[in-house]
Amino acid sequence: MRKYLVIGNWKMNFGRSESVTFLDEFIPIFKKRSDVEVGIAPPFTSLSICAEKLHGSSILLGAQNCHWVESGAYTGEISAGMLKELGCSFAIVGHSERRQLFGESDEGVNKRAAALLAADLTPVVCVGETLEERESGEAFKVVTRQLELGLAGISPKLISRVVIAYEPVWAIGTGKTASASEAQEVHSHIRKVISRLGGDSISKEVRILYGGSVNDKNAASLLGEKDIDGALVGGASLVAQKFASIAGFRV
Ligand code: 13P
Repeated sequence: MRKYLVIGNWKMNFGRSESVTFLDEFIPIFKKRSDVEVGIAPPFTSLSICAEKLHGSSILLGAQNCHWVESGAYTGEISAGMLKELGCSFAIVGHSERRQLFGESDEGVNKRAAALLAADLTPVVCVGETLEERESGEAFKVVTRQLELGLAGISPKLISRVVIAYEPVWAIGTGKTASASEAQEVHSHIRKVISRLGGDSISKEVRILYGGSVNDKNAASLLGEKDIDGALVGGASLVAQKFASIAGFRV
């Protein structure tokens, strides 16, 4: 059985002191469900304080990106091993903001995912089409390419440890959510692609999260779909009360 996974992607929000304020509010109101894992992905500079605050809690800590080389002359980059040392158990890779604003490619996503797996961390590989691609009927084609290239050369056994996040670019930060059935359609397609890449039984183990304007009002209906195994939440994950509701699928 796949456990649900709900991750808050804080993006470039919450330095150390705001992170503490958030967690001081969130931890007491967060009610753990045995069928749901919950994680947060703060900015790099807030990871260590969050690791301290989360000590002894079940809330997972992750980063928003990583580099694929272990160490060396890569100014400004952070490796998977460094994240692990800080207490991270996952990292987001290939977020559409990284792809669109920082020129990251499918090949880079692939190297990042492989490096995370090698360091025993979980890659959360983001895929999703733009509005233009959706309107020209290319959503499945784009997502298929991102998965094929993003997971290239990764063994089926390791694919089972990858988390996929389907984030239609047109739904990110816009307040426009894909309807539950629109999202389910793409999630089901993603599971078929994973089955082709890693085999049928592996595809049943892989968690596929939905992201894009998820909030405390729409989470329960999205997460009620057969192939939606959780959520990658941006804006609403910055409000403790809202994120606690989403993590418990409460309206
Ligand atoms: P919003 O929830 O703010 O739309 O952001 C989604 C996202 O990009 C999460 O990674």
